[in-house]
Amino acid sequence: MKVIVCKDYDAMSRKAGEIFAERIKAKPGLVLGLATGSTPEGLYAELIRMNKAGDVSFKEVRTFNLDEYVGLEPGHDQSYRYFMNAKLFDHVDIDKANTRVPNGKADDLASECAAYEEAMKAAGGVDLQLLGIGSNGHVGFAEPGSPSDGRTSVVDLTESTIKDNSRLFASTGDVPRQAISMGIGTILESRQVVLVANKESKADAVARAIEGEPTTDCPASFLQGHPDATFVIDEAAASKLKGEYERA
Ligand code: PGA
Repeated sequence: MKVIVCKDYDAMSRKAGEIFAERIKAKPGLVLGLATGSTPEGLYAELIRMNKAGDVSFKEVRTFNLDEYVGLEPGHDQSYRYFMNAKLFDHVDIDKANTRVPNGKADDLASECAAYEEAMKAAGGVDLQLLGIGSNGHVGFAEPGSPSDGRTSVVDLTESTIKDNSRLFASTGDVPRQAISMGIGTILESRQVVLVANKESKADAVARAIEGEPTTDCPASFLQGHPDATFVIDEAAASKLKGEYERA
């Protein structure tokens, strides 16, 4: 696993942006796995800037998001479809027909999960998967306890995730209790993974993911078994690491 420690959030976003832009330039029809949350917003702003400058095009890019809340309409301002449109898709030259976010309002959620896996397979698999990390070590909504070979499924959110995400809802009671999420097995199948993390609040989870034993208690630790995984993190998120790592 590669670790790149950046000075601050902006430097982390620029570094991750460079990695994504280089990969898209090398393969215009790249299949991206995308993530929501506060952490990737700076990276998405970088990609928008580069797209507007004519440095990178999303015309042929296809995307699959990691997860979506169960029960929220795509137009709900806390749905992940809404987030992706607002933070990236509406501002770049991507064809929205090539962007997928699980449908958390599907009548048959199990069929939606199976269809999502099939669609990724039909696209040739994910080339580059972006991840954030929860303070409890989750990736996507693959929460602690998730099996290392798990596939896209309906998951129950942990109390810690509900608490972390309640900042975005009117009250904790409004946070959905379930989500559709890619599983660890799905994520590990992508050809390349880039995980971004900033802030002191992520330092414990980052240290467990990089330097702890791989364990279902910290789903991100299973990335140690991935052949091409890179953590791009700021100094605060790196503050509990014991080893020496590349600095950018
Ligand atoms: P955040 O969430 O980027 O909003 O901190 C990351 C996550 O929970 O995966």
